[in-house]
Amino acid sequence: MKVLVTGGAGYIGSHTCIQLIKHGHTPVVIDNLCNSKAVVLDRIECVTGTRPAFMQGDVRDSSFLKRVFATHAVDSVIHFAGLKAVGESVEKPLKYYDTNVSGTLNLVREMQAANINSLIFSSSATVYGEPASVPIQEDFPTAATNPYGRSKLMAEECLRDFQHANPDWSITLLRYFNPVGAHDSGLLGEDPQGTPNNLLPFVAQVAVGRREKLGVFGNDYPTPDGTGVRDYIHVVDLADGHLAALDKLAYQAGIHVFNLGTGQGHSVLDMLHAFEAVAKRPIPYEIKPRRAGDIAECYADPACAKATLGWSAKKDLQTMVEDTWRWQSKNPNGYGG
Ligand code: NAD
Ligand code: WQD
Repeated sequence: MKVLVTGGAGYIGSHTCIQLIKHGHTPVVIDNLCNSKAVVLDRIECVTGTRPAFMQGDVRDSSFLKRVFATHAVDSVIHFAGLKAVGESVEKPLKYYDTNVSGTLNLVREMQAANINSLIFSSSATVYGEPASVPIQEDFPTAATNPYGRSKLMAEECLRDFQHANPDWSITLLRYFNPVGAHDSGLLGEDPQGTPNNLLPFVAQVAVGRREKLGVFGNDYPTPDGTGVRDYIHVVDLADGHLAALDKLAYQAGIHVFNLGTGQGHSVLDMLHAFEAVAKRPIPYEIKPRRAGDIAECYADPACAKATLGWSAKKDLQTMVEDTWRWQSKNPNGYGG
């Protein structure tokens, strides 16, 4: 299949391009490079031997999208392009609604004009807000606790209404839990700009000497060691989840919703100790107050994805940490190094 990958130069999009190529699909990347670098395309070519077609531009720009669809006859779209920093979304909510909601609506409008009716959307476990229990199933109530989460929830709801009005469309909402890890070549990985918001990139930067120590946000949660528990999923497993959704559902009309997680929870200290063992060095940390908006525990029930897509996560915590460390130690300054 020829697949338009919006945000394909980003962390999850670039790994998905590699898996698409490996499985015989043809990705076409669009990205405005606001949170990624064009060198990612070189790395994809280095790993796969194929350089994806690339057009630089913004999903909010209708004339750009018209050009993209006029240039490439794509069968389906995977829509990663978006902004994802929770803290920034509190400071600049309109920026998040503009990119994540308006950008998505604009994309769908231009897909419709180009007669393409198959879409996979990057959603997030954040749409469950503070779940009443774990593991989380797809039919749990949704709620947003910050503008980023609300932008994902709004986009999901807009897509549901749109699919209802256009029943021939296939729209798949994939709710990712906590993506971590990197390509096992050490050539691609996560390259956050500025101070990392997420746990594993922060730990990796401490291990490589870019930061002094990790702040652990709270050790008084009702969890086995008091620190927050999350469902960390290897980015290549996540990428494969998109391939499974594409293979099974690209031509199945309907609105389809799946959790993409492992079903396993790990605490902050589990992650820290796993990283210390792999990097063979102590990782200094200090306990800090809880971070506003954090929840104690969040992990998926991934049974629905397994039953319908035939997909489940394969890579264990050791592999997630080893791959992160290979990427970070080979590229201490990310793609800019
Ligand atoms: P990323 O920032 O690495 O990738 C997003 C890409 O989209 C970047 O390359 C960026 O330059 C591009 N982009 C942003 N705005 C754009 C615009 N207006 N037009 C064109 N391109 C634009 O992030 P990621 O971690 O790869 O996340 C991909 C998607 O998955 C996002 O929608 C994110 O909200 C969602 N998601 C991520 C996580 C996570 O923890 N990484 C978890 C759940 C959901
Ligand atoms: C994980 C755990 C922190 C950093 C966020 C978004 C979510 C999704 C994934 C996009 C928590 C603790 C973290 C640090 C720490 N993104 N922590 N020190 O908060 O589960 O989810 O990313 O959709 O929407 O909210 O991930 O990696 O930030 O935190 O102690 O410096 O690590 O408190 O328990 P989170 P995270």
